[in-house]
Amino acid sequence: MPDRPYVIDKLISAKSIAARIEALSHEIEAEFAGTQKLVVVGLLRGSFVFIADLVRELDLPVEVDFVETSSYGNSTESSREVRILKDLRGDIEGRDVLVVEDIVDTGHTLFHVLGLLNSRRPHKLRTIALLDKPSRREADICADWTGFEIPDEFVVGYGIDFAQRNRNLPYIGKVRFTGE
Ligand code: IMP
Ligand code: MG
Repeated sequence: MPDRPYVIDKLISAKSIAARIEALSHEIEAEFAGTQKLVVVGLLRGSFVFIADLVRELDLPVEVDFVETSSYGNSTESSREVRILKDLRGDIEGRDVLVVEDIVDTGHTLFHVLGLLNSRRPHKLRTIALLDKPSRREADICADWTGFEIPDEFVVGYGIDFAQRNRNLPYIGKVRFTGE
């Protein structure tokens, strides 16, 4: 599959992403106003660019931590089984926590991670996803904030990969297979 030739069609520009993050940062600041410390939890690896841009827009005392879950491997199909490959370094009991996800697709990843983090009794737990594919949802979940709703397309760029490639594109593009 990864060897099939494909091109990437631009879907969301770097400029639109930056503008949307700036707008969302104000909503997050309002939600967590007065917090002693906001623990911003990125889901590796797809959220690494988004979290980097997001925290730099947040005028709040912020700590950054990461969780890594098992991924799609080299296929474009979601696996329903979610495993934690890397857990948080810090304790979140009584803390304000913002989980940062790249894409909510079937929703199984976010559902599983939120269940785990909620069991640690944070003070307030909220979620933000850069992209949402509502038509693909299987788990009963949605992020508190979403950057952009997108159709059922496989996308790459801005941290998001196809078989570990294309994470370094500054925009979001959709994969279009060519030939054969
Ligand atoms: P879910 O558990 O089905 O919601 O999948 C969530 C994860 O699948 C995301 O965090 C992404 O890492 C990955 N994913 C979902 N859709 C895409 C896509 O279009 N391109 C690349 N990765 C995707
Ligand atoms: Mg991911």
